[in-house]
Amino acid sequence: MSDTNAIGLHEDSASQLAEKLNALLANYQIFYMNVRGYHWNVKGPQFFELHTKFEELYTDLLTKVDEVAERILTLGHQPAHAYSDYVSMAVIGEDKDVRDGEACVRGVLKGYQTLIELQREVLALASDADDEGTAAQAGDYIREQEKTVWMLNAYLG
Ligand SMILES: [Fe+2]
Repeated sequence: MSDTNAIGLHEDSASQLAEKLNALLANYQIFYMNVRGYHWNVKGPQFFELHTKFEELYTDLLTKVDEVAERILTLGHQPAHAYSDYVSMAVIGEDKDVRDGEACVRGVLKGYQTLIELQREVLALASDADDEGTAAQAGDYIREQEKTVWMLNAYLG
C-alpha cells in the first residue's frame, strides 16, 4: 500500500490531480482579483446592481479558492500560494482598468467559461483515478457556474 496516499489514492494519480488543481487554483486567484477590480471600477447607470453582483461573485470565488487549496492538501500536496506563480500558471489574464458595465460582465462570463472548461478536465482526471471527492467538488462547481453563465448571458441579452 506504499504507493497510495492517506486517502487511499495512488500517489501518481494524486500528483497529477494536485498539479491540475494548482492550475485551477491559479485561475481562481486571478479571476477573483479581476472580479474585485470590476466591483471597484465599474461606472454608469448599472453601478449599484453590478457593484453588488460582483461582490456576491468574488465572495463565492474566494470560498472556492480555499476549498480547492484544501483539496490539494487533502490529496497530500501543497497548494501554490504566491501571486507570481498564479500569474505564470493561469490561462485567465489580468483584466485591468475595465469600467464599462457590459465589458465587466463580459470579463466575468469569459472567466467562468474558462473555469468550467478546466473543471471538466479535473472531473475527467478525477474520475479516471476513482477520486470521488475531487470529482464531486468539480461537478458541483460546474453545475453552479453553468447556471451563472446562463444568467450572465441573459443579462447581456
Ligand atoms: Fe466593496
